[in-house]
Amino acid sequence: MFKIVFVLAALACCAAAQNVIIAAPPALATVFPGQSIVVDIDRVPSLTGSQDVAVAIGIKSCVGLAPAGTCDGVDTSGDIGTPLFSGPYTPQPVGNGHSDLFQNFTVTIPQFLPEGAAVLSVAHFGLIIGEEPFLEVVNQTVIIGNDAAF
Ligand SMILES: *[C@@H]1O[C@H](CO)[C@@H](O)[C@H](O)[C@H]1NC(C)=O
Ligand SMILES: *[C@@H]1O[C@H](CO)[C@@H](O)[C@H](O)[C@H]1NC(C)=O
Repeated sequence: MFKIVFVLAALACCAAAQNVIIAAPPALATVFPGQSIVVDIDRVPSLTGSQDVAVAIGIKSCVGLAPAGTCDGVDTSGDIGTPLFSGPYTPQPVGNGHSDLFQNFTVTIPQFLPEGAAVLSVAHFGLIIGEEPFLEVVNQTVIIGNDAAF
């Protein structure tokens, strides 16, 4: 006789996701076409020996895709828009008694983005416990200002 044992995967098992946050620019910051801005990508120190590998930063206009001034309902998890940077992510301690890690990337806002809301996305790739691939996409909504005023 077979004894069938159902092993339920404990969905909550796995190493805490090593989520990054976009510390800058702040939500709804106004940026201008052609402007260089700092994208500050932070995370808490790894508790699980996770290894950061890379990030890709992209921007996508929400004009015509969402109610004016918002990116509501736009999902960038499968399309980060125009890439502004892609490469290694090697965050360093913030210092001053804070345990968080940060890395600043200077990127240029594309000239062709229309005035209005746009979503800045960061795709973050790492390896949990040095071996388990991990990919997340986080975002921040920004407002593209009128470049004539910049
Ligand atoms: C931004 O991230 C939030 C939280 O994960 C999510 O609810 C929202 O759909 C995302 N927005 C875009 C434009 O991807
Ligand atoms: C990183 O960028 C943030 C946001 O612009 C800024 O406050 C911070 O001073 C920068 N850190 C370094 C070391 O440049």
